[in-house]
Amino acid sequence: MNNLKPDITWIVKNRPKKDVNLSKKMFPVEMSRISRRFHRQIPGYSMSPLRSLPHLAQMLDVGGLWVKDEAVRLELNSFKVLGGSFALYRFIQEKLGLKDEEILYENLISEEMKRKLGVITFASATDGNHGRGIAWAAQRLGQKCVIYVHKETSKRRIDAIKSYGAIVKVVEGNYDDAVRQIVIDSKKNGWEIISDTSWDDYTTVPAWIMQGYTTMMAEIQEQFSGQGIIKPTHVLVQAGVGALAAAVIGYYHSLFGEEAPKCIVIEPENAACLLHSAKINDGKPHSIDGDLDTIMAGLACGEPSPIAWEILKETVDAYVAVPDYVAAKGMRIYATPLAGDPFVISGESGAVTLGALVAILKENGVDALRDFLAINEESQVLFINTEGNTDPIQFRQIIWEGSNPVPKEYWTDPD
Ligand SMILES: Cc1ncc(COP(=O)(O)O)c(C=O)c1O
Repeated sequence: MNNLKPDITWIVKNRPKKDVNLSKKMFPVEMSRISRRFHRQIPGYSMSPLRSLPHLAQMLDVGGLWVKDEAVRLELNSFKVLGGSFALYRFIQEKLGLKDEEILYENLISEEMKRKLGVITFASATDGNHGRGIAWAAQRLGQKCVIYVHKETSKRRIDAIKSYGAIVKVVEGNYDDAVRQIVIDSKKNGWEIISDTSWDDYTTVPAWIMQGYTTMMAEIQEQFSGQGIIKPTHVLVQAGVGALAAAVIGYYHSLFGEEAPKCIVIEPENAACLLHSAKINDGKPHSIDGDLDTIMAGLACGEPSPIAWEILKETVDAYVAVPDYVAAKGMRIYATPLAGDPFVISGESGAVTLGALVAILKENGVDALRDFLAINEESQVLFINTEGNTDPIQFRQIIWEGSNPVPKEYWTDPD
């Protein structure tokens, strides 16, 4: 190791001793069963794999590394569809006054249902994956969909959304500007907003979305139990507005209370609104401005989701912000595994947590964080590969052409 300043920033939190009521309220144990019962009816549903990387774990002196691989979720290359589809299911239940009655998937997509509901236009802003999930779900229901993206969104991501019949509009500004614009236009046009981020008087749908993500958590726990593991000791989860992180971490706190795994939120350094909020430490979410420039398109959000923040502020153990090359390195590690480890296709937002772990364990000047997290030969570390190569051209530029290289001064020696 050399004497360079660390290139990652972080803040650690002492977990409040009080009971985590909000996590229990939002993610009661039966919630993951309800959402999974819905998702498993969707044709093509199967559990996404929980992959083990034993050789990399050995190299890093970690007990086990586990990757929930959402690159193979339905046909959508990302976990996001779990939230959007569950929210549309809840929306229809509520619209028809059937809140406590199950609607079977085959009834949901029937002509009769279409007649009952009339024509609906579902609308959302997205940085790619959420919009694709909503477009997919709306198409299954035979309904309309309008998706707003910001000006930096790649053509590949836009085309992927359009391929499910949605109308896509490019909005000036960043992701947060796209959210503001869709709210204005939806009011004008009578569209139904299905947003994964929340605001003052808009919390019901984002809560459904987070609850939909718990299908993945129920699968993970089932897969761990098949390995004789009760729970991971550490969870690294990536965040944009924080809805995924709140679902993952809230689920574990609801299930295990004070015995929940150590939970670490990872963000891009140019869009680290949760780290920023944790640093201000007044209990409120705080935004950051700017064009949120990062290769991690799914995490390029400057405003935390307030309902996600409410959960995160009482459960997260550490927030870490990393430069883009950390994500690119994570992608390359997944794509060129050690002999005997599985190959994982992971996009920029998907791979950042693995890249961050390597930085945390190996970078110079990170000792305080390393000591706090105490990741060692006994630890079982969970990552979620939240996306595959959702932007295939950028994926190849990073893996084949070596774009976003690690600056030489930050090269780490794994031994
Ligand atoms: C691939 C990927 N990973 C992680 C996230 C983060 O989710 P959230 O915005 O809920 O924090 C997103 C969000 O779009 C995403 O697309």
